[in-house]
Amino acid sequence: MSLYRLIYASRASEQMKPDDLGQILEASQRNNQRVHVSGMLLFSSREFLQCLEGGREAVNATYARILGDPRHEAAVILDYREVARRQFGGWAMHQIAHDWLSRQAILDFSERELFSPTRMSGASACAMVEELAARRTQVPAERPGQAAAGSVLGRLRAG
Ligand SMILES: Cc1cc2nc3c(=O)[nH]c(=O)nc-3n(C[C@H](O)[C@H](O)[C@H](O)COP(=O)(O)O)c2cc1C
Repeated sequence: MSLYRLIYASRASEQMKPDDLGQILEASQRNNQRVHVSGMLLFSSREFLQCLEGGREAVNATYARILGDPRHEAAVILDYREVARRQFGGWAMHQIAHDWLSRQAILDFSERELFSPTRMSGASACAMVEELAARRTQVPAERPGQAAAGSVLGRLRAG
């Protein structure tokens, strides 16, 4: 059984309301756990960066469902590949809070200080996701439906 990782970016649509993020995470954790999909979701400056990993069919079906969600638009696949192991195992879906993104951390992976995953190269998106994964043990464990407290990218400079 092969493992796949999909990284995409999208932009929140006008239909995306502040309360929706919690709902999205709740649905993600519930559904992804069932099909053994793990990953992380970053939402900042009204753009999403999400990493989904798991079996090919499960990842594809999850992404197809997400694509149909009217709360976002202009989705673009940044990277899709077979991987040897999961990077976010144990996280059915983990939200990385936007204030975790320090200016310097954004600059490390982007041309400008503005976090814009829809304009990110595939290589930068992979590097950012991999850096987040490498630092994930610094984040307190999160129970389903609960946003984790703490900072991964904000701590990248310190660590
Ligand atoms: C940016 C974004 C990311 C999402 N990520 C996931 C996800 O990883 N897994 C998931 O099941 N739903 C995700 N959703 C929500 C789905 O689009 C859909 O609303 C949900 O799967 C419906 O679940 P339900 O039928 O159990 O209510 C996401 C939505 C958005 C806008």
